Amino acid sequence: MMKATAQAPVNIALIKYWGKKDEKLRLPANDSLSFNVSAAFSVTSVEYDASLIEDVVMIDGQVLQGDSKLRLTKHVDRIREIAQLKTRARVESHNNFPKGSGIASSASGFAALTLAAAVAADLKLTEKDLSILARIGSGSACRSIPDGWVRWHQGNSSETSYAESLYPADYWQICDLVAVVGSAEKKISSSEGHGLVESSPFYQPRLKDLPAKTQQIITAIDTKDFTLMGQILEAEAINMHAVMMTSVPPLLYWNPTTLRVMHEIISWREAGLEVYFTIDAGPNVHVICQGNDAAKIEKKLLEITGVEKVIVNQVANGAHIL
Ligand code: PMV
Repeated sequence: MMKATAQAPVNIALIKYWGKKDEKLRLPANDSLSFNVSAAFSVTSVEYDASLIEDVVMIDGQVLQGDSKLRLTKHVDRIREIAQLKTRARVESHNNFPKGSGIASSASGFAALTLAAAVAADLKLTEKDLSILARIGSGSACRSIPDGWVRWHQGNSSETSYAESLYPADYWQICDLVAVVGSAEKKISSSEGHGLVESSPFYQPRLKDLPAKTQQIITAIDTKDFTLMGQILEAEAINMHAVMMTSVPPLLYWNPTTLRVMHEIISWREAGLEVYFTIDAGPNVHVICQGNDAAKIEKKLLEITGVEKVIVNQVANGAHIL
């Protein structure tokens, strides 16, 4: 039977990917660094079925049509091409986090789709091959293939731009508590947002500093220096948002609760509780802390007006077959 089911996690970037040097191949302008999270993932089944006359794609129970379907079937085409397969597929994907929760499903979704489509086609691809394919589907999806703490090498061609694991998931007990503060659908997708970077006067200075910053955070992770890692990842998130806010048109992803959570985190830190934040292309705040502090911080986050819920994550493995 030509069927496989894969699970892949969402990942949170500590050094962000924002801006591409090759639009079509999705080659990023810089290396980025992330870890996979344990409580937000996609489960995707792909079944090649000779009785189908066209691909059928369902996400969270909804049959896709038009452009959103095309982006996924084109991705299955890439895998069919490698496998020299013409058979149409039934793709069914579920996210364990609600659509519109502000948590993007493209990274976990494309990573799970890549693995399931390849295994169902009986392809024996390496982790690197899978990461490259996932990248072409949706940039940061390449980081949801390997386990644990992951670095995406920007590369200078499709074959050299892929993610690999730096450390396994159990290397260090760090948590990402996602403070969900808003669920409005994005007006500008991250795919479009990447295209605006050149219009920000802060983009080139950002790129210039990134290699040193990336090296520094790797040293911090290497030595399990939580303070250094936290300082770098928080400054990095603000730096990326400064580029977003100063692009034309400006991208302002934060809402009043986002800012309230940021200020609370800074004041908890001043009071001796070590905790840092990072934010992606949306209003939710990813609160990074050490495992021992997670329960206390979760409680404090839930007391902030406007925080709808908190998703508690440990560092997790990457994409795998179920
Ligand atoms: O993979 P994309 O196109 O959704 O871009 C991801 C962009 C950020 O989440 C903002 C940063 C990152 O590195 O994950």
